[in-house]
Amino acid sequence: MSSEKVLIGVIGGSGLYHLDNLTFVKHVNPETPWGYPSSPITIASLPSGTLIAFLARHGPGHTITPSNVPARANIAALKSLGVRAILAFSAVGSLREDISPGTFALPTQIIDRTKGVRPASFFDGSIVAHAAFGDPFSLKLVRWLEGPVRRALDAEGRGVQLVTEKTIVCMEGPQFSTRAESLMYRQWGGDLINMSVLPEAKLAREAEISYALIATATDYDSWRPHAEAVTAAEVFKTLKANAETSRHVAATILEELNAAAAQGDILAEETGSMAFSIMPRA
Ligand code: ADE
Repeated sequence: MSSEKVLIGVIGGSGLYHLDNLTFVKHVNPETPWGYPSSPITIASLPSGTLIAFLARHGPGHTITPSNVPARANIAALKSLGVRAILAFSAVGSLREDISPGTFALPTQIIDRTKGVRPASFFDGSIVAHAAFGDPFSLKLVRWLEGPVRRALDAEGRGVQLVTEKTIVCMEGPQFSTRAESLMYRQWGGDLINMSVLPEAKLAREAEISYALIATATDYDSWRPHAEAVTAAEVFKTLKANAETSRHVAATILEELNAAAAQGDILAEETGSMAFSIMPRA
């Protein structure tokens, strides 16, 4: 791959197993020190000939649970292709009345409610490193995305809203939250909830890859007093339309995103950050 570096990686979540308006080039399946990625990575070209990489987080047939996603292999495989920025998609529950199912969000904060069972660092051997994670998403990338994503949603004409500056809770699953937990997450300041943004975002930071999430709301989780608690059937109702809109957004913005990455505009925060995160040996 050395002569064909790919700057942008797209990770698809539930319902998003391929992208549109791209020319298929090849599949690659790099073996990393952490094993193979969730699925072979699709290398595809944009109309300009620019290459991008697409990875289905849960496998092409959605066979991998959130707890078992090989996130280290996924991030390492994308890094090995030269990827510098990741645009990740994920179906999420909404913890707020005004974020109705079908709404798209660009979160800026995460509350970690995974249970420590997911390997969440590349530095668990002889090197100890503490990456800065106060801003878990790449704010330059998030802020850059807002305009192009909003324009893409407006152009699609389905009235899909985009909300920003939200906090996403990442829970372990695979069961959904109890009503009490859902209410507690609201009190904590959570706006959205999913099972997949971690450890992906942590590993992208350690790999010095800019990372942003387009969260697509499918349900109201379980906090609404007189409503049914979330079920998988409820999530599936919105999943298809959200995936179609996600494909439209990706097809609209990827060329511009690649150009911004090539100029370095959306990359600066992460590059070189780990050099200052490694603990010196005594
Ligand atoms: N993914 C989609 N909806 C969800 C919810 N309510 N909780 C956790 N993950 C989700």
